[in-house]
Amino acid sequence: MSSAALDALKTQAFVDANGKIVDQFRNDPDRLSHMSLDVCGLYVDVSKQAWSKPGFDRAVELFEQSGLVEAREKMWTGKEINVSEGRAVLHVALRDSDAENARLRGPEITADVKSARDAMRDYAGAIRSGTITGATGKPFKTIIHIGIGGSDLGPRLVFQGLSPLTPKIDVRFVANVDGSELALALAGLDPAETLVIAVSKTFTTQETLANFLAARDWLIKGLGEDAAKKHLAAVSAAPDKTGAYGIAPDRVFGFKDWVGGRYSLWSAVSLSIIIALGFDVYERLLDGARQMDQHFLTAPFSKNAPILLAAAQVYNRIGHDRPSRAVIPYVHRLRRLAAFLQQLEMESNGKRTSPTGELLATKTCPVVFGDEGTNAQHAFFQMLHQSEDVVPLELIAVQKNAEASDDMQKKLLSNVIAQGEAFMVGKSLETSVAECKALGFDDARTAQIAPQKVCPGNKPSTTVLISELTPETLGALLALYEHKTFAEGIVMGLNSFDQWGVELGKTLASGVLKDFTAATVADHDPSTTALINRVK
Ligand code: F6P
Repeated sequence: MSSAALDALKTQAFVDANGKIVDQFRNDPDRLSHMSLDVCGLYVDVSKQAWSKPGFDRAVELFEQSGLVEAREKMWTGKEINVSEGRAVLHVALRDSDAENARLRGPEITADVKSARDAMRDYAGAIRSGTITGATGKPFKTIIHIGIGGSDLGPRLVFQGLSPLTPKIDVRFVANVDGSELALALAGLDPAETLVIAVSKTFTTQETLANFLAARDWLIKGLGEDAAKKHLAAVSAAPDKTGAYGIAPDRVFGFKDWVGGRYSLWSAVSLSIIIALGFDVYERLLDGARQMDQHFLTAPFSKNAPILLAAAQVYNRIGHDRPSRAVIPYVHRLRRLAAFLQQLEMESNGKRTSPTGELLATKTCPVVFGDEGTNAQHAFFQMLHQSEDVVPLELIAVQKNAEASDDMQKKLLSNVIAQGEAFMVGKSLETSVAECKALGFDDARTAQIAPQKVCPGNKPSTTVLISELTPETLGALLALYEHKTFAEGIVMGLNSFDQWGVELGKTLASGVLKDFTAATVADHDPSTTALINRVK
């Protein structure tokens, strides 16, 4: 990142801190048109961020001067931009046409993408039509999708987003190695109507393998060993590892290591939801993502939705040292969006070194957290409104919802719009005093209560209004966040596609697991040793 551009952003952020967001609208009548856009069924408004127009310009310039255009080109054409793992990063190939793949990435990748799509289309179609059934001839009614992290969060979010109210084939997701999750997922199911799909890029993940073996035992108990095989399938980038788990080779669906785990929902990782929702829905999801890809590739940065969201984050994180961001979907069907973004953004950009090993010059990914609105309003918004800490927000809503009555939808939308306004304008002491007087409080009571009602305001937010939740708009929304994350990673000067920090805990957990059965516990600190001994 250019240090001059970085200094310019910090200087302008410092100047902006003296002003109020609401005054920026008064000073600049064109503010809204500069800082909002319509793309792929999404209306993106970053005008309630705390930047002045020069602050906005400096943030966008940071991206223009970051080498992002070159990095994007390298990613798109399959160069090994994930240098620490020696891999290309080509999730965009999964949603491109055969012709584009052939033009940009060559025959091998074109053939890989096409054969994976064809295999999924055929298998999903055969299950949906009843051509492929369980061992007793009963059609599959429920899929147990077993996977964690990127092998869980994307498909789970999309299924919650798009499933019919009464799905013909239901999907239950199991991620954690806490056996209660599997027990709850299997409760009430008939093994004869249940398909278990293990989803793991590496096929070495402890949680997924433990859950899969337990689910397989449940099938064997209900159906017998041979019959159970007809109820097992796997998705992996390491298909050679799946045979050891009794999964027939023609039930194994692959993807390549150039698909990162947290970018993998466009691959066979979504097999279970493709079966449940239909291949046509999956194609529409890809279509929406492809439209966002084209926008990201072609729109000028100041009118480029992923860049606007990324610029707001960098302005808040680097310009103002704000360590967190709240993501609040006012969309029950997207209630897991914050969880999805936590992995996408924090696993991608929560780093401290550059790809060449130097410590980075700036802070990196903030803590991303959130819950659905309006529930979040009744839980943690109090702190967001009145604490001296500034937590930037992203407020996401769907305009038209055929499942909601007009009355309920208007109530929901009034909340999301009012919250953005409330965070920005706040409530002054004068207003609070007037309220107290109107309630008949005497001077002493007013002096006591009025300050407690003050909301300082000037709290920044971005609003994303989705016209209607469809496969296309959901695909576009998820691709929007993927490109936002990639762009931020380039500006911060890190590799968004590895995750070395996750490894330490995995290694230590396997040591602790051994300690549980070892004659003597290995050398740990006193607190850890005491905990191990308690479990022993
Ligand atoms: O532990 C982190 C991680 O490697 C994620 O990056 C990944 O999405 C998840 O674990 C699951 O990995 P796998 O798909 O290989 O089981």
